[in-house]
Amino acid sequence: MHPTSPTRGRTAPGRLTALDAWVCHAERALLLRSDGPWLSAPFVDVGLGDLPWTTLESAAALRMVRADLEVLGIDLDAARVAAAARYADARTHFCQGGFDLPSPVRLARVLNVLRQYPPAELPEIHRRLGVAILPGGLVLEGTSDARGGVLVAHLLRRGPEGLAREGLLFHTDFSSGFAPLLFRDRLPRDLRRVAPGTPLHTFFAAWTAAWSEARVTHDTPHALFTASIAGLAARVEGLDPDPWLTRGGYLVWRPPGGVPATHTP
Ligand SMILES: C[S@@+](CC[C@H](N)C(=O)[O-])C[C@H]1O[C@@H](n2cnc3c(N)ncnc32)[C@H](O)[C@@H]1O
Repeated sequence: MHPTSPTRGRTAPGRLTALDAWVCHAERALLLRSDGPWLSAPFVDVGLGDLPWTTLESAAALRMVRADLEVLGIDLDAARVAAAARYADARTHFCQGGFDLPSPVRLARVLNVLRQYPPAELPEIHRRLGVAILPGGLVLEGTSDARGGVLVAHLLRRGPEGLAREGLLFHTDFSSGFAPLLFRDRLPRDLRRVAPGTPLHTFFAAWTAAWSEARVTHDTPHALFTASIAGLAARVEGLDPDPWLTRGGYLVWRPPGGVPATHTP
């Protein structure tokens, strides 16, 4: 299983800090869990990029919640792992590898890695990523823009039968204004084709309708986002009502029955 072209390693400091903040807020219990194999189970960053900025930033952020958290950065590319190695320390490690993670893992992040893989391979990639995740552990898999101002990630939770497609996390910092369609270009690889009739198309149509209504009375991007989510909540099930999310430009949607797969080979 290989990318369709040589892998790009572009990353940037700060690109994934909003995701770190969400993890610290929403997955605090996952970070703190210490029973049995959880005691030393790491956070694994798969596809760390040409320099390990985002891995190191995550290590610092997540260790504000759990100081002794083990962190492992992985990349397919030996030169990127070698460049990262100088930043290793007693709890921060780097190694060459792919989707078969060393077990057991509490949290794995695979951001901006799968864009170069054919969508048809995504179910198998998700399956492999899930093997080493502890029951209840989480895989964050998704895409952002170059700066991390717009990001969408799958929340893939390890259940008895592998990774369950629990939900989607949307985030924007409003630097590009706000409209639901901003997120369409940043959807995880397997959801890119938002064809009419699919559940994701219905979701975006509902969000766009709520956004259009909200535009009548709200003009700042954040006010518009907040009002659009209130309107969306009246139209679809499964929105996380935590006000911390809306304040920070996040939306978490956990559709009943899980996030449907939309890719048809
Ligand atoms: C664009 S960078 C992403 C860096 C960082 N995660 C970010 O979001 O800014 C993608 C990285 O994924 C790596 N990669 C691609 N396929 C991989 C695989 N199967 N296993 C591990 N790393 C992989 C590439 O070598 C590249 O360094």
